[in-house]
Amino acid sequence: MAYVVAEPCVRCKYTDCVDVCPVDCFHEGPNFLVIDPKACIDCSLCVDECPAGAIFAIEHLPDKYEKYITLNIELSQSWPLIHSKIDPLEDADDWVDVEDKFHELRLS
Ligand code: SF4
Ligand code: F3S
Repeated sequence: MAYVVAEPCVRCKYTDCVDVCPVDCFHEGPNFLVIDPKACIDCSLCVDECPAGAIFAIEHLPDKYEKYITLNIELSQSWPLIHSKIDPLEDADDWVDVEDKFHELRLS
């Protein structure tokens, strides 16, 4: 696995990442996206597109986000694919700079 969506995406879901991805990597949950590591071709295009700075190459993933590696693997198996950009969550701009919002992550 090379690229991981981490905590800054929670409650934002801007989805700019989806439009630049050349393959079907992104899966959508209620207030978070994940990358399917089996589909990702490590192109890195999504990293600079995310307004929240939520996407990291695994070797650059901050230690505090380590649990997101497993979350991307597991949730990409059950959440549906998203193929194109949609509107961000209504209060995304209020949440983008909030730290420690793991407890806000909705699984269903
Ligand atoms: Fe898609 Fe490339 Fe990002 Fe992987 S690194 S999720 S292939 S845009
Ligand atoms: Fe999330 Fe950033 Fe994509 S906020 S939906 S990883 S553009």
